[in-house]
Amino acid sequence: MNASKKIHKSDFLVIGSGIAGLSFALKTAQNFKDATITIITKNEKNECNTKYAQGGISTVWDKTVDSFEQHIEDTLLAGDGICDEKIVKMVVEEAPERLQELIDWGTKFDKTTNGNYSLGREGGHSQDRILHHKDITGAEIERALIEKVEKAENITFLTYHYAIDLITEHQVKKQQTKRQEKITCYGAYVLDEKKSIVKTFSAKVTMLATGGNGQVYSTTTNPVIATGDGIAMAYRAKAEISDMEFIQFHPTALFNPGEYPAFLISEAVRGEGAILRDYYGERFMKKYDDREELASRDIVARAIDNELKKSGTPHVYLDCTHLDYKAFKKHFPNITEKCMSLGIDVRKDYIPVSPAQHYICGGVNINKKGKTSLKNLYASGEVTRSGLHGANRLASNSLLEGLVFSNNAYENLKKRFHKIKEPINVPVWNDSGVVKNMEKILITHDRNEVKTIMSNYVGIVRSNERLLRAERRLRVLYEDNKRLYDHSELSTDLCELRNLITTAYLITQFSKNRKENRGGFYSADLV
Ligand code: FAD
Ligand code: SIN
Repeated sequence: MNASKKIHKSDFLVIGSGIAGLSFALKTAQNFKDATITIITKNEKNECNTKYAQGGISTVWDKTVDSFEQHIEDTLLAGDGICDEKIVKMVVEEAPERLQELIDWGTKFDKTTNGNYSLGREGGHSQDRILHHKDITGAEIERALIEKVEKAENITFLTYHYAIDLITEHQVKKQQTKRQEKITCYGAYVLDEKKSIVKTFSAKVTMLATGGNGQVYSTTTNPVIATGDGIAMAYRAKAEISDMEFIQFHPTALFNPGEYPAFLISEAVRGEGAILRDYYGERFMKKYDDREELASRDIVARAIDNELKKSGTPHVYLDCTHLDYKAFKKHFPNITEKCMSLGIDVRKDYIPVSPAQHYICGGVNINKKGKTSLKNLYASGEVTRSGLHGANRLASNSLLEGLVFSNNAYENLKKRFHKIKEPINVPVWNDSGVVKNMEKILITHDRNEVKTIMSNYVGIVRSNERLLRAERRLRVLYEDNKRLYDHSELSTDLCELRNLITTAYLITQFSKNRKENRGGFYSADLV
C-alpha cells in the first residue's frame, strides 16, 4: 500500500453521505460560501442506510390532531425511561422546521387527494405523523440531497474513499492519548479504494456521519456498508461512547432464506392495519401488549422471538389480506412488487416474516450541538448516542435525528468556526511494517464468525453465559485480526473487519455491564 505524501486540506471534512452527512454538508456549503467542504464516502454516493428507509420521517405536522406533547410522550415511552427529556423536546419541536427544509431542498412526500401531506403511522406512535414517499422514503431523500449537493461549488464529493482512522494528538504529537483527556480531531486517514493509496485529509472541522453497524449480525436489514466504522474510529480516538447494548431488532423482515441483507416489510404496513399471526395462523400480540401490532418495536420483536422459540418454527406471518389492495399498492408499491416476485400475493397470501437487526441506539456521545467529546469532531445520525432514543428508538425518529443534529452542529459552527485554527504538523500516513498480504479468505471467515457469535449470543434475548461466550470468542478474533492488520496490506475488507470486531465487542461489554432489562436490552438472567 502506498501512502500519498500530499495533505488534502479542507475546512470541513464530512465522513458519510447519508441524511446526516449530506444535510450537514449542504447547510454548511450554503452558508459558509468561502469555505471548502469535502465529503468522503466509501461506496456509491447514495449507498447507505438512509437509501433503504421505507416508513418515513416522524413530525407533528397537523397540530389540529397532533401535538408536540404527544410525540414527546411516545418517544419517551418507547425509550423505556432513559431518554434525555430535554433532547427529546428539542428534537420534536425542531422537527417541522427541518422537514420543511428537506421539502424546500426538493424532497417529495406523498399527498392525499385534498393536497395535504399523507401521514402514516408506525409502532409506538399514538397519532398518524409520518411523512413518507411511498415505501421508498430514504431513496427519495438521497435523490433530492445528492442533486442539491452536486450543485454546490464549494463541495468536493469523493466516492470509494474509506476513512480508516481519525487524526488526533496521537498521530500529530506522537503522544499516547487517554479517554477523558482534552483531545482534538484534525481530520482522517482515508483509503482511496480505486487507486489503493492512503491519503491524509486534514480539516478544521470533521463531521462523523458514518451510520450504524448492522453487519455485526447474520440477519440484518442494513446494507453491507453498515460496519460500525465511525463508532470504532471514534472509540480508538478515545471519544466517549455509550448505550451500545441497545440494539433494535425490527419485528418484520421478510423471511427469505439466502437473501442478504434482509428485505424490510415496513412497520407502516402494520400502521395500515396488518395483523401478525403465528405459523399456524393464530393472532398472538394481545398476549404481550394492549397496543398489539402497534406496540413499540422491542416489545413486538421479543413477542415474535418468543413465539418462534416456543413453536420451533422459522417465521410468523403478516396478514394484509383484509386491507384495501388498491390503497396498499399505492402506499407500498415496492413491498407489493417484492412479495409478488417471490410468489406472495398480498391479497390472498400471508407474508412470512421474522425479526432482524435493524438499528443501534447507542454510539458516539454527542451533546445537543452535535459535539462529541473530542474538540472539532462533530457527529450526527445513527453513529451517535444523542439521548433521543434511550433504550429503544421510536419508529421513524432516526432520519429526523440526523437532520436535527446536523443542523444544530452547523448552527454551533456559525458561532465558533472563525476561531478554529488550521491544523498544523499533521503527518502523512505511515505505511511501514507491512510484510505481505495474508490470504483474503481469512477475512471472510472472520467476518462470518463475528456475525455468528453476535446472532447466537448477543441477540434479542441474552444471558450471562451467552455474553461470556461471545466475549471469549471475540477476544480470539481480535487477536487474529490484529496480526492480520499489522502485517497485511491495507484493504477496506480488513479495516471493516477490525471495526466489526470492535463494535461487536463494545455491544457485548456494554451488555455485560447492564444490570436491568430495558427497551432493546433483555437478558434472561435479569427477569
Ligand atoms: P447512513 O445513511 O447509513 O449513512 C452512512 C454513510 O457513511 C454512508 O454513506 C456510508 O457509505 C458512509 N461510511 C460509513 N463508513 C465509512 C467510512 N469508513 N469511510 C467513508 N464513508 C463511510 N429510519 C427512519 O427514521 N425512518 C424509516 O423509515 C427507516 N427505515 C429504515 C429501513 C431500513 C431497511 C433501514 C436499514 C433503516 C431504516 N431506518 C429508518 C433507519 C435510518 O435509515 C438510519 O438510521 C439513517 O438513515 C441513518 O442515517 P445516517 O446518515 O446516520 O447514516
Ligand atoms: C420501517 O419502515 O418499518 C422502518 C422505520 C424505522 O426504522 O424507523
